[in-house]
Amino acid sequence: MSLHFDSAAGTFTIHTANTTYQMKVDEYGYLLHLYYGARTEGCMDYLVTYADRSGMCASPHDVADRTYSLDVLPQEYAFQGAGDMRNPLLVVRDAEGTFGCDLRYVRHEIRDGKYGLPGFPAVYSESADDDAQSLSVVLADKRTGLEVELLYGVLPKLDIVTRAAIIRNTGSKKFVLKRAQTACLDMVHGDFDVITFDGRHAMERRPSRRAVTHGSFSVGSRRGMSSNQYNPVMILTDRDTTETAGRAWSMSFVYSGGFLAEVEKDQYEQVRMQMGLSDEQFSYPLEPGEQFVVPEVIMTYSGAGLEKISHNLHRCIRKHVCRGPWRDRPRPILLNSWEAAYFDFTGDSLCRLADKAAELGLDMLVMDDGWFGNRCDDLRALGDWTVNEEKLGGSLKQLVDYVNAEGLKFGIWVEPEMVSEDSDLYRAHPDWALAIPGKDPALGRDQLVLDMSRADVRENIFEQLCAVLDQANIEYLKWDYNRSIVDVYSRFATDQGKVLYDYIAGLYELLERLVERYPNLLIEGCSAGGGRFDVGMLYYTPQIWTSDNTDAHDRMTIQYGTSFGYPCSAVGAHVSACPNEINGREVPLSARGLVAMAGGGFGYELDLVELPERAWEIITHQIETYREIEHLVREGLYYRLSSPKKDPVCAWEFAAEDGSEAIVCAVVIEVEGYGVADYVVPRGLTPGAMYREVNSDKVYPADALMDMGVPLPISSAPYMSRMYRFERIG
Ligand code: DGJ
Repeated sequence: MSLHFDSAAGTFTIHTANTTYQMKVDEYGYLLHLYYGARTEGCMDYLVTYADRSGMCASPHDVADRTYSLDVLPQEYAFQGAGDMRNPLLVVRDAEGTFGCDLRYVRHEIRDGKYGLPGFPAVYSESADDDAQSLSVVLADKRTGLEVELLYGVLPKLDIVTRAAIIRNTGSKKFVLKRAQTACLDMVHGDFDVITFDGRHAMERRPSRRAVTHGSFSVGSRRGMSSNQYNPVMILTDRDTTETAGRAWSMSFVYSGGFLAEVEKDQYEQVRMQMGLSDEQFSYPLEPGEQFVVPEVIMTYSGAGLEKISHNLHRCIRKHVCRGPWRDRPRPILLNSWEAAYFDFTGDSLCRLADKAAELGLDMLVMDDGWFGNRCDDLRALGDWTVNEEKLGGSLKQLVDYVNAEGLKFGIWVEPEMVSEDSDLYRAHPDWALAIPGKDPALGRDQLVLDMSRADVRENIFEQLCAVLDQANIEYLKWDYNRSIVDVYSRFATDQGKVLYDYIAGLYELLERLVERYPNLLIEGCSAGGGRFDVGMLYYTPQIWTSDNTDAHDRMTIQYGTSFGYPCSAVGAHVSACPNEINGREVPLSARGLVAMAGGGFGYELDLVELPERAWEIITHQIETYREIEHLVREGLYYRLSSPKKDPVCAWEFAAEDGSEAIVCAVVIEVEGYGVADYVVPRGLTPGAMYREVNSDKVYPADALMDMGVPLPISSAPYMSRMYRFERIG
């Protein structure tokens, strides 16, 4: 059993294959965090120290012991109101407007299986073989009737511990949640770095690592979306932790809206890491009898460096977050019309693209933005999800039938949460857009955000989407979202502080309805590229368009950063034209293909018809290769062999879990002087075994490969690229 309560010691212990997590209900009923680290037995309450630290560290009134203060003790669910002055997870205001609560242990329950969260995405387990278990610990504030049910889930084989909470009002008066975060991890000592994944539109999720010093460091999003700027993944490490050695702890938020991730070093050199909902424009009233779901955080620990953190998260997200038949299937290799034609296409030009795509061996044509209403540019028509048959020169069904007859699937783009002022939907329902009465709303890409907290708005959009999807054999949907929320006002909200949270709850409800009605539909998430690349979206969309930046050079950095928290199966990656639209860079087609092949959502996004014959040959070959390796991209272990920002060669690897095969990919970024050989050193092969290079007669000893590596062809020009495919012999 992975979860255990020791009633004599008051400890809850969670064991996974390689880790142990422990907390304790102390004699006053407070829930203290004791330990999260390498697997161990026993009681770790000896780690907690007590000393009279002066009146500056308050003690609860019923504790006649000046060495006892929540301001110092490691907390499991830090709350404001009983003396802990560090960053709280929970801040509550009662009916009289007073802040403060005092949460103490009431009861707990341990059960088999993984808990779910009503209305919100959460890690799931569908097989008893996972040995998943759940723990619920209820804390209560007797003055207000506030109850917090802390939920812990464990996937022991994957070293995954999840946390979430449900806050209930069991009292007789309303109270207001001013801050409701999910999880903190208190470390009683240590010298740490914190790694976050920062960027901007078209340059998302670059890892940045910095020392944890006194005070508080935070990243987050107040944009109503998880954002292109900061990603809801945070990793705490020892100062000397590397890719393959040292301790690391991570948190990933299973939520697609605003978030806050913080790390604080306190007066006694202790460190608190925490994650949860953003508290900006947040103020959530709970009437008696109401409850509030605090979304999930996935936690994992590694004693073997950052690579192990990623492997744990990849395994968890691939099989315990992503759902539906596409979770385990090869994804269609697609041609997307966006960078091929932007808004400038007709039914005929799409058919020509489909002809060429079929000839080269692709699986699907995706009609991106521009097919509906009078959408000839990005100034109009969002919200009017009716097919522009004039532009297509016929019905959607005729187009899809043609594409299907070519042997290709058909996919379509939508941006359902948005509305243009120049649209029939907006003219009919101006109040459906988020806008503050008396204030002109801010525009983003000339569009407004629909109020997804409203059921009538969601119903309209759902019906419009179904009407399109039911017209023809549409097997893929790209779900885009291209601006952040500025004007937070919903016409019927009882408190405007509820809107951002209710918006995301509404979005999840809409996506869930769609997934239920179209279980075979492959949905790819997108938000101006990677603005909502988060675990919450992956519950509904098993792949996400990673970035609008399709330049292979920049993509190596973006995909490298993305890989820390997310599996490559989720990465949408396309080969686009050169020079690149965004930065004008020229990278050979071979390297562009190799970089895009590191994504489970592989495809092309350029005018295939206009390419020279040699390019068609290369593309045909890339597609054949991808089909042979895609199972490793989707299910294999991913290794970051070097860093695209620090090393002259960017190299990565996918290896089968059992070591039977591996692909090692490398792109030379910097060429210096003349004649220097670069070596790539793989990992994850079977020690002592011999490996054969596929399509070659070369044989290599695994130990030598993993020690000295393999030389790349000596290159005199940047972007020389190479894929080695190794198969274990015998
Ligand atoms: C932003 C997306 O990231 C692009 O791929 C494309 O779909 C455009 N929107 C279309 O407007």
